[in-house]
Amino acid sequence: MSIISDLSQRFGDAFVRIGFESDWGMVVPSQRPELAHYQCNGALGAAQRSGRDPRELAAEVIGAIDDDSLFASLDVAGPGFINITVTDPVLADHIQSMDDDEQLGIRPADPSLKVLVDYGGPNMSKSMHVGHLRASIIGESLKRLLRLVGHHVDGDIHLGDWGMPVGQLIIELESRHPELPYFDPDYTGPYPTESPVTLDGLSEMYPVAVERTKADPNEAERSRQATFDLQNGRPGYLALWQHFHDVSVEEQRRDFEDLGIEFDLWRGESTVHDRLAPLVDRLTNENIAIESDGAVIVEVADPSDKKEMPPLLLTRSDGSYLYSTTDLATLEQRAEDGYDLVLYVVDARQGLHFDQVFRAARRASVVADDMGLEHIAFGTVNGPDGKPFKTREGGILRLADLIEIVTDAAGRRLDEAEIAREYPAAERDEIATMVGLGALKFGDLSNHRTSNYLFDIDRFTSFEGKTGPYLQYGSVRMQSILRRTAELGLEPGPIVPPTVSAERDLMLRLLRLPEAIDRAVDVRAPNVLAEYAYEVATDFNRFYEACHILSEKDAARQASWLALVDLALRVLGVLLHTLGIEAPERM
Ligand code: ARG
Repeated sequence: MSIISDLSQRFGDAFVRIGFESDWGMVVPSQRPELAHYQCNGALGAAQRSGRDPRELAAEVIGAIDDDSLFASLDVAGPGFINITVTDPVLADHIQSMDDDEQLGIRPADPSLKVLVDYGGPNMSKSMHVGHLRASIIGESLKRLLRLVGHHVDGDIHLGDWGMPVGQLIIELESRHPELPYFDPDYTGPYPTESPVTLDGLSEMYPVAVERTKADPNEAERSRQATFDLQNGRPGYLALWQHFHDVSVEEQRRDFEDLGIEFDLWRGESTVHDRLAPLVDRLTNENIAIESDGAVIVEVADPSDKKEMPPLLLTRSDGSYLYSTTDLATLEQRAEDGYDLVLYVVDARQGLHFDQVFRAARRASVVADDMGLEHIAFGTVNGPDGKPFKTREGGILRLADLIEIVTDAAGRRLDEAEIAREYPAAERDEIATMVGLGALKFGDLSNHRTSNYLFDIDRFTSFEGKTGPYLQYGSVRMQSILRRTAELGLEPGPIVPPTVSAERDLMLRLLRLPEAIDRAVDVRAPNVLAEYAYEVATDFNRFYEACHILSEKDAARQASWLALVDLALRVLGVLLHTLGIEAPERM
């Protein structure tokens, strides 16, 4: 049991002994660490409820604590807080149990759920850009976090590969190469195996196609028709779709691999194509979906709605399907696959869309009532001008180029700090890549996901401050201490009670791991872990400066310190892994 749970239980029991509910006993880390380790604020609330004096009640609670040998001090403070300081042997005991536990005291989720995380979500035929970066980084971290606590989690990329953009590209290609067999309705195949365009070609074509449909209603109509024909199985268009799909996915796989992001499922909007017509039919037959100006819609508004809640559109008047249709059908599949919970890690600007889809899914019993559906919204990545990040030329930055930029910046930082200077070139490059990606990911994850943040590569790659490289350097330092001491024949040993305040602070910090994990899971926000990891690294550095391990004369103390280094490394390792950040072995 974590020290916080243990204390909460003891204080809860004390409240019960004097006739109150145990919930008042909740213990939290002290707001004033210089005064106490922990505090319990329950006497304030309990006193208010019962019309008693809070300080008096707090004193009574302290009197009702059964084993006061655990505490160095218990004091009533301010209007009725209880300040709690545990003894050094108690701290050492808890650190020892944490060290003995393979799970480091992290509480397993109960029940363990089958969870799907829908993240990344790049669109076919377009190079990924920074907009997809947050979805990928946050989604990967949430997936790892939920796995860490024992849920069964699958990550699904959910490619955008079935809508109007594909129709627009088909028309654009036709206008450039009308001679290709894909456009000839009388052609009976086989179609060429080689794609007529590369992904770069598609990326170039897409904005042109969008402009064209915006400028000319005829072109818009042609794109719509092409989308409809594709969705209705026109062979030439399907063959083109397959080419677009393959060239896109090839690059996307590479990008994600470079980022250290792994999907279990490479499904997309097109995956559920065969479900669309039957689903729309069923909802129409059950009067859940209705016709409106030729389109088919599901009303999702609720009398209690404060804001306008437009209906969910299932088919356009020509019968073609939309993003909302594929999302609803995808949910049907996910329900059949037995997921208890689906997290959609998608830009906050799609909030209304998910609200509508989730409501329609419930109304239409596409999902069971107890299946969890959550939109995990995130804000934008902004450039120095405070607007969504773009390249200097005003274009959208490709992910692959972005990775190169951060890796180069990291390389320069390593040079400046004279880190890894004498290492073989290949190892240096590998370190620069890890540091660059660590900088990028931590730069993102250290913000709460719903806030927008400023993309500031100089700050992200610094080895000082709240950055990825600072944490990676901390991990490297811990590893190097353990390596050097091992070479001298020194091994970690049993934990002895702390004597130095920096040592005590580090212990208190490490003991907070289970609560940091619980909190991050509860709010679905990796920044909780980013923040905590930074505190662990900072407390570790203070400990390292205050406690001179190599020159320590007391062998038991020295071995205990080494055990503490080892535990700090394990804790930081779990956190970095959960944030999707790799640390080098040395640098
Ligand atoms: N492809 C979409 C986009 O780029 C994101 C997909 C998110 N997932 C979903 N099930 N809608 O905006």
